[in-house]
Amino acid sequence: MANLFTHPSRLPLIAPSILSADFANMGEDCTGVLEAGGDLLHVDVMDGHFVPNLTMGPDMCRWLRKALPDVFLDVHLMVTDPERYFEPFVEAGADHVTFHVEVAPGDKAASLCEKLHSMGVTAGISINPPTPVEQILGVAQHADLVLVMSVNPGFGGQAFIEDTLAKTRALAAVLRADQRLEMDGGIGPDTAELVREAGCDVLVAGSAIFGEMSENRGRVIRGLRDGTR
Ligand code: DX5
Ligand code: ZN
Repeated sequence: MANLFTHPSRLPLIAPSILSADFANMGEDCTGVLEAGGDLLHVDVMDGHFVPNLTMGPDMCRWLRKALPDVFLDVHLMVTDPERYFEPFVEAGADHVTFHVEVAPGDKAASLCEKLHSMGVTAGISINPPTPVEQILGVAQHADLVLVMSVNPGFGGQAFIEDTLAKTRALAAVLRADQRLEMDGGIGPDTAELVREAGCDVLVAGSAIFGEMSENRGRVIRGLRDGTR
């Protein structure tokens, strides 16, 4: 099973977003996309406040960890008070936690990264489409991963916002080799190449993968990684 940080030869990594999985069939859907070549699972947590939707909490991580002991769980907190949820998610088996710079600007972002490290997980900082890249450039050095949102977060299946690629390019130019650069939202066969070319090395995809019949998901995952159709 790929780890976000210890398999540089596998880059770019493909992170299926379980938000688009069949919630009544979660274990089977997740096992299937990992067998089909997915590298890890991306877990989208929404609080109905930072974004206009509610999704899942630490218990989802706990059950995924139980069903898939070796999977890398990449938790994306789209919540107003991320710190409150660090411990519950880490206890439930998260390997990595990303929070948003919009709710943790400047020194706060640095201290939240430090807190996650002290809990034994890696730390990510995410930025929404309307937020200027400068807000993250000054704190990116504290994170293991930077996540550039390519849609306004809240729902799967939205259209990719091409303007966000400029942010990815700017970040790719300054991040260290040991830091990952992830994009999330609207990534599919028609947009993955732009994302890879901008320097992104972890591609999150929800509807492009889970929207396909299970027998076609391996082909989609390969295509996201290398451009084959
Ligand atoms: C956006 C979420 C995404 C979403 C991506 O609100 O953070 O992870 O699940 O879904 P697609 O790939 O369908 O845009
Ligand atoms: Zn996400």
